[in-house]
Amino acid sequence: MTEHLHKSFEGGVLTLRLTRPEKKNALTRAMYDGLAQGLHVAATHDETRVVIIAGGADFTAGNDLADFAAVEADKPRPGAAFEFLEQIRAFPKPVVAAVRGVAVGIGTTMLLHCDAVVVAKQARLQMPFSRLALVPEGGSSLLLAQRVGTALANWWLMSGEAFSGEEAMRAGLALRAVEDAQVEAEAVAIAGQLAGLPPGALAETKRLLRAPMREALEAVMAEERVAFSQQLRSPEAQAVFAAFLARKK
Ligand code: COA
Repeated sequence: MTEHLHKSFEGGVLTLRLTRPEKKNALTRAMYDGLAQGLHVAATHDETRVVIIAGGADFTAGNDLADFAAVEADKPRPGAAFEFLEQIRAFPKPVVAAVRGVAVGIGTTMLLHCDAVVVAKQARLQMPFSRLALVPEGGSSLLLAQRVGTALANWWLMSGEAFSGEEAMRAGLALRAVEDAQVEAEAVAIAGQLAGLPPGALAETKRLLRAPMREALEAVMAEERVAFSQQLRSPEAQAVFAAFLARKK
């Protein structure tokens, strides 16, 4: 059991739940490692048919900004986040996301790799990369425009403006937007439905759906990783992280 990540298994469905509510589930390296490891094992575990990724009252406030601030200029960035993104990009079985509260940064971009996204209508999604002096990651430079169209993708990634779960659903980023209290039940119902279908056919369906974009996505994610890692160390980005960590309530 990883700290701040709870794993449970029932009826062929593995649930990976972020459990760091006091920090709105901001993701530490250990949490990324736990997610990546959970997916790695689930990929070849025959009894696992579907994975749910969930939080609690919040999905996740994104990467822990203290970790971003502590990145060492002369060392390659520990790749925990990127390794998790690689795992979820290549994961062969259906992934369902249950999103309540905030879903910031990678909290939104990881949804682009999920097969069914259930959001609370009032959820607050945001990709504030430009505000943090960072750049898009998680393949969002390519995938977001495919999902929601160029106009919205440009705006959300360039302005860093937040949007609601309801808007996410209308735009095509989420499958369903429901009341906050219904999110978990809806995600479990969808996962159960998929878990009851022939797994070989589902895996092939997922592979075929992803195939036309696979090489382009790999290339984009590699390029994003270089740009993100450079920008992370820039004085403008480090100044933003320091200001967040020093802010007074
Ligand atoms: N990294 C580290 N700590 C974070 C965090 C993050 N990404 N997001 C939230 N937290 C911490 C806060 O510092 C605070 O901790 P404290 O109580 O010890 O001071 C706690 O979580 C609660 O957050 P708070 O800001 O008080 O909640 P809020 O409801 O006012 O705002 C957010 C929620 C998500 C809008 C705001 O916390 C935020 O903007 N966080 C940064 C998100 C971000 O930029 N993520 C990186 C994307 S690449």
